[in-house]
Amino acid sequence: MPRDPHPRAPGAEVGITEEMIHDLVHTFYARVRRDPLIGPIFNARIDDWPAHLEKLCAFWSSVTLMTGRYKGTPMKAHAELPDIAPAHFERWLALFQATAVSRCPSDAAQVFVDRANRIGASLQLGIALHRGEAIVPPMRFGEAQ
Ligand code: HEM
Repeated sequence: MPRDPHPRAPGAEVGITEEMIHDLVHTFYARVRRDPLIGPIFNARIDDWPAHLEKLCAFWSSVTLMTGRYKGTPMKAHAELPDIAPAHFERWLALFQATAVSRCPSDAAQVFVDRANRIGASLQLGIALHRGEAIVPPMRFGEAQ
């Protein structure tokens, strides 16, 4: 159920609307599904595309308009993908940027791309931590002088 954008939401002042989000999400995932690198990962995992697209519209509405429509755990969803790697994020972000630039006014595209980059970085860090790959400095206790 759409809710009004928060007046201080990052997308509100650049004119992002639910219609714009719908168009961006649907165009983007149509491209993702045809992409030879990342398409197979999505096609193997997602059975119900209309439900996935509805969820992603709610996600971008929450991120850019602060409507609180998305309730989910993206970190968990991605940490559970066994083969996901930095090259997939690069391709995802390149496709997302190209789609945002081609479908949205430039101020709005910038907000989408900025948020996608930040979320992509935090998802990749989360995945690395989940796999025990991130370097965490060792901590020593009881030796302070
Ligand atoms: C900034 C980059 C990305 C963002 C913002 C993003 C966002 C999301 C969100 C919000 C979901 C729904 C999670 C849920 O509530 O169920 C999702 C699911 C998913 N994402 Fe991403 N994603 C990104 C990158 C990627 C990449 C690089 C891949 C793999 C190539 C990927 C593959 C998937 C798959 C397969 C699902 C469905 C998981 C499932 O339902 O089992 N995502 N993504």
